[in-house]
Amino acid sequence: MEIKNICCIGAGYVGGPTMSVIASQCPHLRITVVDSNPERIDAWNGPDLNKLPIYEPGLAEVVAEARGRNLFFSKDIDRAILEADMIFISVNTPTKTYGKGKGMAADLKFVESCARQIAAVATSDKIVVEKSTIPVRTASSIKNILTQADGGQPDGQADEQAGGRMGRGINFHVLSNPEFLSEGTAVQDLLKPDRVLIGGDNEEAIQALTAIYAHWVPAERIITTNLWSAELSKLTANAFLAQRVSSINAISELCEVTGADVDEVARAVGADSRIGPKFLKASVGFGGSCFQKDILNLVYIARSYQLHAVADYWEQVILLNRHQRRRFADKIVRTLYDTVSGKKIAFLGWAFKKDTNDSRESAAIYVADALLAEEAEITVCDPRVSSARIYADLDALGSRSPEENRRLLKVEKDPYDTMKGAYAIAVLTEWDEFKMYDWPRIYQNMQKPAFIFDGRRLLDAQKMESIGFDYYAIGG
Ligand code: UDX
Ligand code: UDX
Repeated sequence: MEIKNICCIGAGYVGGPTMSVIASQCPHLRITVVDSNPERIDAWNGPDLNKLPIYEPGLAEVVAEARGRNLFFSKDIDRAILEADMIFISVNTPTKTYGKGKGMAADLKFVESCARQIAAVATSDKIVVEKSTIPVRTASSIKNILTQADGGQPDGQADEQAGGRMGRGINFHVLSNPEFLSEGTAVQDLLKPDRVLIGGDNEEAIQALTAIYAHWVPAERIITTNLWSAELSKLTANAFLAQRVSSINAISELCEVTGADVDEVARAVGADSRIGPKFLKASVGFGGSCFQKDILNLVYIARSYQLHAVADYWEQVILLNRHQRRRFADKIVRTLYDTVSGKKIAFLGWAFKKDTNDSRESAAIYVADALLAEEAEITVCDPRVSSARIYADLDALGSRSPEENRRLLKVEKDPYDTMKGAYAIAVLTEWDEFKMYDWPRIYQNMQKPAFIFDGRRLLDAQKMESIGFDYYAIGG
């Protein structure tokens, strides 16, 4: 099964960079990325590479190399499906906001509509690759839809036995190829992945996808498994990573009351090669589109099998994360003499981590929400997140009206204006440029006492204190 034409549905944080890197490494493949949002496609095709819809270091260069050569961004979804031998599904799978499993289960409506569209349009054999993170056994639903929408086998079981053969004589094979890239380092992660995971039940299809990655990924880093193992591995990897962050964040609170320093503890603990040094940075809480959603998913699946001890165990990782965000906001209110009403508080950063314009599930949203409930006046400065995004994040919480959000929270471009006249600064994202600011000048223009609440342990404590700030870092 030789692949020549690839289509990717979903031009987001995963689909965009992943297809760009595959195109750059495999010039012989023709790759078309489509999206139901035409503005996204226009943005990917725009002349200014600094204005791609997502920001990732190194991405503009990769797109510049491949776009128009073998990488195309198109609005014609049907045509891209029709022409492709292999179709990646990279649409978002947010937590359900309605109905059964509300707030816990993954919403698969976008994945399902992709599968239906593929079934309706295809006239030749296709390998369908799940890139989106999905609950275990989604592949069987996708197969089912491909079959039924095509008038083929009546259920997924029959379909599996039939080896994916459909009513119209079209073969659909479903693979799970979860993405492990981390935003902010996506291009590097894609070029040098720790591993590529391919799950499937058809050897030929697995080999076809393996052959693509083998162009730049060493063979020993390409792991093949059955479908369910691949799907579950993605959820498990994110749950383990998030668990490490919640573990060190739990210790950060203990550090604050005992006088220990959480970075010192992390260094000492991480030096044990069995534990390792990564993902031990205490913070105001993890964010991003994956950690919370994937753990909620795991918890939901465990509960649906009546595995309550398992569900409770993983749920605690999320509860601790919520606690960490909450206690950071509480610390600000308490320190500002138990009232922040009408006080200007400057937020440095809104993105869920540095080097991305993504703010999904960012701790900043929840800290802002808690402070706005106390009628604080917040001013936000983030190098990459747009003000439209910031207001959309707040409005989505539904805690207060959009007008109220715009009255109480302002977005600034200039960091010095952001902090001028503020009673306190809260560091929410670890952007490197924050360290370079003229801190003595910032201090002069603030209310006194001037407080810094560093939710990222980004700034130099001694330096800040010597300037005159009252400096608090999460974790002592
Ligand atoms: C990814 C993964 O795919 C998701 O499973 C994971 O949990 C988070 O990361 P991501 O690329 O970050 O999603 O999402 P997003 O940036 O929102 O991109 C998804 C794109 O799919 C959007 O551009 C959206 O317009 C598009 N889309 C959505 C479609 O093209 N068709 C649909 O039916 C739904
Ligand atoms: C994560 C996984 O790392 C990636 O493999 C998967 O494909 C998608 O989910 P991402 O969400 O992009 O990637 O970012 P990640 O670097 O994992 O950070 C997640 C959150 O944890 C961020 O808010 C980050 O600031 C926080 N974090 C991370 C910490 O607070 N401390 C740490 O030590 C590491």
